[in-house]
Amino acid sequence: MLRTDFLVIGSGIAGLNFAIKTAKRFPDQTITILTKVNTDETNTKYAQGGIAVVNDREKDSFQKHIEDTLVAGDGLCNQKVVEIVVNEGPERVEEMIDLGTQFDKDIEGDFLRGKEGGHSEYRILHHKDITGFEMERALVEEVAKYPNINIHNHWFVIDIITQHHLGYLVTKSTPNIECYGVYALNLQTNEIEKILSKITVMASGGTGQAYRTTTNPKIATGDGIAMFYRAKGRIENMEFIQFHPTALYQAGVSPSFLITEAVRGDGGILRNKEGEAFMQRYDPRADLAPRDIVARAIDNEMKRTGTESIFLDCRHMELEKFKAHFPNIYDKCMSVGIDVMKNMIPVAPAAHYCCGGIKVDEIGRSSITNLYACGECSSTGLHGANRLASNSLLEALVFAHRCSEDAATRIDKLQFNDAIPDWNASGTNDPQEMILITQSLKELQLIMSDYVGIVRNNVRLERAMRRIDLLHEETETLYRTTTASPQLLELRNLITIGFLIVKGAQFRKESRGLHYNTDFPEKAEMLQNIVL
Ligand code: FAD
Ligand code: SIN
Repeated sequence: MLRTDFLVIGSGIAGLNFAIKTAKRFPDQTITILTKVNTDETNTKYAQGGIAVVNDREKDSFQKHIEDTLVAGDGLCNQKVVEIVVNEGPERVEEMIDLGTQFDKDIEGDFLRGKEGGHSEYRILHHKDITGFEMERALVEEVAKYPNINIHNHWFVIDIITQHHLGYLVTKSTPNIECYGVYALNLQTNEIEKILSKITVMASGGTGQAYRTTTNPKIATGDGIAMFYRAKGRIENMEFIQFHPTALYQAGVSPSFLITEAVRGDGGILRNKEGEAFMQRYDPRADLAPRDIVARAIDNEMKRTGTESIFLDCRHMELEKFKAHFPNIYDKCMSVGIDVMKNMIPVAPAAHYCCGGIKVDEIGRSSITNLYACGECSSTGLHGANRLASNSLLEALVFAHRCSEDAATRIDKLQFNDAIPDWNASGTNDPQEMILITQSLKELQLIMSDYVGIVRNNVRLERAMRRIDLLHEETETLYRTTTASPQLLELRNLITIGFLIVKGAQFRKESRGLHYNTDFPEKAEMLQNIVL
């Protein structure tokens, strides 16, 4: 059994940031970070394009960034949250610079700023095309300086502990559900441990692995959102799954390698099989329209021309400039036989970002008491129906800070709950056949990609739900009778994520942002967040 004042689930930008701020403020309190693989294996590490922030107030303005975010969000952003994130962003980014994060500069020492879809200005700070890698590096190095932060790698959090574990009936309408910690599978000992905490922060990242084709690494299985839903917390807007328009097309390869939108910001052009630069036909902003529009246009072009990919044309770009900004992409393309100066890059949309998640307020508080959420697993209201490119790293920084500030005002009043029982693993045996798990995962990913992708309709959603119900039933039986393993736990969580996406999509009787249903092609008059 472990006891910790602050428990952080996840070691990406959100979790590490919270931990550092809290450790600095409370040198005598313990902060424990649990992560299911190595510390730096996170979505954060793979972020390419950069972080959107207004730090040149001569050319850019807070108002423009706010406006761009609201336009991309297609009517569903919470304006107050947008203003908070945009206005507080520069200070949070400055703190990352103080920690040693290197953002690219020109020879005069001014920041180089990139542009991506939906941005009216060049405002994206970046470290070549590996911004996330650089930010994660700086954070991991900083965390190591605090003796009161303990990182436990290879600890798989299974469930949030609430009154349910004390034998009380907890439902969605229970007025004050409290979090007392978590149960986690220690993958070194294979024991399920009880971890008691006063404050818990969910920073468990995204859900991309629910789809067959995704830019997200294997860890992105929506665990935090799924366990929060099981604990009867409020989840919202899960139907808004963002597909990145330009993942490198390589049949059968998963995760897909991303070709950052910043390439289009620097002049890359999308072309269809016939060589046509088609984006102008879909939107006056052409290749730099918001992501929902570009991904849908590509999907349409692929269906129209019967192809599995379209192309990103960089042949007119300057080699030296390309290599300076996108060295990783240049090398990756070369390694698979694509010389970007001679060949167009085959690209296709891939599941990329979960705009919904654990519903939180303006300071990151979820509907479960003493449980905060920040980063991709949370739904703050910033993204609305479609996230503006490069706003998620910023959101994670701003909300990790806000969670830390609020938690600091409450920690002294909280106690551990020592009545929590140990995990009960009776009645479970080692799995007979792993194929039951691996095959179900493949099925789920196919269902989600085929029926709940960029374009949806009622029949497809119904069909997806029926199949997910069956997978759910089979997997719950397996879960009750089989020793817990990361594979089984992730499958179970991804099935819940699939269910939440389909349920949200079925409730939303309109097309807005990332959710496009051909049976309801118009926007509804009433603005609505779907809360499950
Ligand atoms: P993550 O960084 O994903 O961290 C999640 C953590 O939770 C991991 O440590 C994981 O091990 C842990 N975890 C999960 N489940 C469990 C469990 N059950 N038990 C224990 N630990 C668990 N955004 C931008 O703003 N700009 C970009 O340029 C950009 N580029 C991107 C490129 C790619 C290829 C991808 C995939 C995403 C990109 N994004 C970008 C999105 C952005 O990177 C993510 O939204 C953000 O990094 C998420 O950070 P996080 O801290 O919330 O989660
Ligand atoms: C990219 O670099 O294109 C991804 C940016 C993002 O997801 O915000």
